[in-house]
Amino acid sequence: MQKKIITTGDGSPSLYIQEINETYHSKHGALTESNFVYINKGLAHWLDNNNKNELKVFEMGLGTGLNAYLSYLFTVEHKITCHYLTIEKHPLSFKEVQSLKMKASLPAPWHHHFFDQLHEAEWNQMFCRSNFFFKKVEEDFFSMVLDQSFDVLFYDAFGYHAQSEMWQDKALERCYEMLQPSGVWVSYCAKGTVRRSLEKMGFLVERLEGPPGKREMLRATKQV
Ligand SMILES: C[S@@+](CC[C@H](N)C(=O)[O-])C[C@H]1O[C@@H](n2cnc3c(N)ncnc32)[C@H](O)[C@@H]1O
Repeated sequence: MQKKIITTGDGSPSLYIQEINETYHSKHGALTESNFVYINKGLAHWLDNNNKNELKVFEMGLGTGLNAYLSYLFTVEHKITCHYLTIEKHPLSFKEVQSLKMKASLPAPWHHHFFDQLHEAEWNQMFCRSNFFFKKVEEDFFSMVLDQSFDVLFYDAFGYHAQSEMWQDKALERCYEMLQPSGVWVSYCAKGTVRRSLEKMGFLVERLEGPPGKREMLRATKQV
């Protein structure tokens, strides 16, 4: 599918796919959204509520690697050991990633080499920097073998209008299976049907204030 580079509201870049009329991130700010939804309301929240300095994160949809880079930064700066597994069905080429010029918007320039490294890393192989154990798998979320040990799940699928199957029970049940008790699922999505499905599965669901341009977002915690 043809992708077009766009500049989002906070100056950071993202990609737009015309065929599905969908962007990889919020038009109001890609970097702001990733930091707000996945790092602050997901990763940092789980660490605040669980007295641990090690965690396992799963990201649905590596895409540009923005969430992975920000997770690396956060866990390195907070001296946390992080095992990060991400799945991607349609990887971007290194050329596509470079043409985005994402690094110009990323914080902590002294860590920017990690952004390239995560894209250059071999698929299906563990790669480690500091205490960040990173693995990217080129596969479909629906066919991957479920590992049930995650603490935090970044659910960063395309929106409902573009990819409705990712927001139905079948996909959300897989998420439930993958999390440990007390594990947290987090997404920019605020759709009522998604919230009710998550509740039906046994998640404790919170409607949180969303990032700029979004009134609400969802966070779901697997109850012990
Ligand atoms: C909204 S974008 C994610 C953006 C990404 N997290 C980032 O920070 O750039 C959704 C991503 O999920 C991927 N994807 C969509 N369906 C998938 C599936 N069934 N399995 C794995 N990845 C999928 C897409 O190719 C795309 O990269």
